[in-house]
Amino acid sequence: MNTAQVVIDPAFRIGEVDRRLFGSFVEHMGRCVYGGVFEPGHPAADDAGRRGDVLALTRELGVTVVRYPGGNFVSGYRWEDGVGPAGDRPRRLDLAWKSIETNAFGLDEFMGWARAADVEPMMAVNLGTRGVQEACDLLEYANHRGGSHLADLRRKHGAEEPYGIRLWCLGNELDGPWQVGHKTADEYGRLAAETARAMKLVDPSISLVACGSSNRGMPTFAAWEATVLEHTYEHVDYISAHTYYDPSDGDRPSILASAVDMDAFITEVVAAADYVAAKQRRTRRLKVSFDEWNVWYQSRLQADLDRDWAEAPPLIEDTYTATDAVVVGDLLVTLLRHADRVGIACQAQLANVIAPIRTITGGPAWRQSIFHPFALTARHARGTVLRTEPTGPAHDTARYGPVPSLDTAAVLDEEHGTLAVFAVNRGDRPLALDVDLRGLPGLGGVEHLTIDAGADPDAANTADDPDRVTPQALAVPVVDGGRCTVALPAASWNLLRFAPAN
Ligand code: AHR
Repeated sequence: MNTAQVVIDPAFRIGEVDRRLFGSFVEHMGRCVYGGVFEPGHPAADDAGRRGDVLALTRELGVTVVRYPGGNFVSGYRWEDGVGPAGDRPRRLDLAWKSIETNAFGLDEFMGWARAADVEPMMAVNLGTRGVQEACDLLEYANHRGGSHLADLRRKHGAEEPYGIRLWCLGNELDGPWQVGHKTADEYGRLAAETARAMKLVDPSISLVACGSSNRGMPTFAAWEATVLEHTYEHVDYISAHTYYDPSDGDRPSILASAVDMDAFITEVVAAADYVAAKQRRTRRLKVSFDEWNVWYQSRLQADLDRDWAEAPPLIEDTYTATDAVVVGDLLVTLLRHADRVGIACQAQLANVIAPIRTITGGPAWRQSIFHPFALTARHARGTVLRTEPTGPAHDTARYGPVPSLDTAAVLDEEHGTLAVFAVNRGDRPLALDVDLRGLPGLGGVEHLTIDAGADPDAANTADDPDRVTPQALAVPVVDGGRCTVALPAASWNLLRFAPAN
């Protein structure tokens, strides 16, 4: 068996885990809202139409913050269509997804849902077809206490207290030619800066996210970040990053190594932001809001869009495999390893649309394979991320060249004295991992959970077989003299937990 080693020492710290790393995303797209989180008349729905089964799974998933209402959708959205008496709301063409938007669900419904799900809202404003005024209007409606037209309208609609939404995205993917209202970096940078300045006049307590690149492969990547931040640096708190990894070509070694790309992407976005900081002589450093990330079988999208306008058509309802779960687990490991510079991350999306939660309209909801590494990471990655420098074998991939077979993140919860080690074996052979814990004396093993994609890489959960892919318990790690050796199956995501031994 191949061997690998990792040393875990509390002297080497990366940063605190911001709970906002475990975010998700609800977009008006396909059946994420309608038939996903919101389905009046469903047997599990409450009086407000919120599906109780989806709410329960959202809580179990451990989601902390939810971005809304898009996505590409937001770039043509009129937020005021979605407030007020349900019967008066207009039906609109959603150009992003070639769908009919009924506006039955809007800001007030989303805020009620967020409260029920116990998640923090993260709102995006439309900087595709709209601008400064509409963004300020939405912020006034949401956050102003009262005594002004739009704040009083919110109160008239039943929300006496302001929503106090802290996180705001200045548009979505405006670097992408597919975006309604696509802009150059200078056009977007100017608009984002002016919108930010005005929004902070309405409510100085908000935090703002400027749009970074839609992915690392964009021809404008890095130059876009630098130009946008030249305009916006002093006004914003985060720069966004988005990425999706596509397994459609069946190249399994490459898809399993996707985190190598995310890792480099984060490093490069941080470098671009720090370049502007240095140029503008600023000491304040921005964080990355990785507010869309996931595995996405993108080759299937066009077929979904080749149809006539419809209400909430099923769009990109990818069924995820055990392999995809290992990839998602490794992307979370990567986000943790950058805890010093990534302050927010949102997996896209929450329900049905490339999502950990799937539903049937009028029927059940279930956990996809990718639900499990997210839920376990959100539950156990609490405290301080420690720097780990694993050593071990490497293997070749067509997309990324030679990559280390092992990827790790270690999180120490000093309050409880517990340690969680996330270890991903991206290779096609089992690994014997030697964990050196001598810097944390007195720890004993609690559990070893694995998602093993080696035996049945394409296994997936379905409505009829919802628990085919679940984490499996392996032998509890035995710590002897501050060291333990654990077996990591080929192509597996693993959680090793340790606690004070007595
Ligand atoms: O999450 C699906 C889409 O992917 C989003 O609407 C868009 O922002 C991204 O391109």
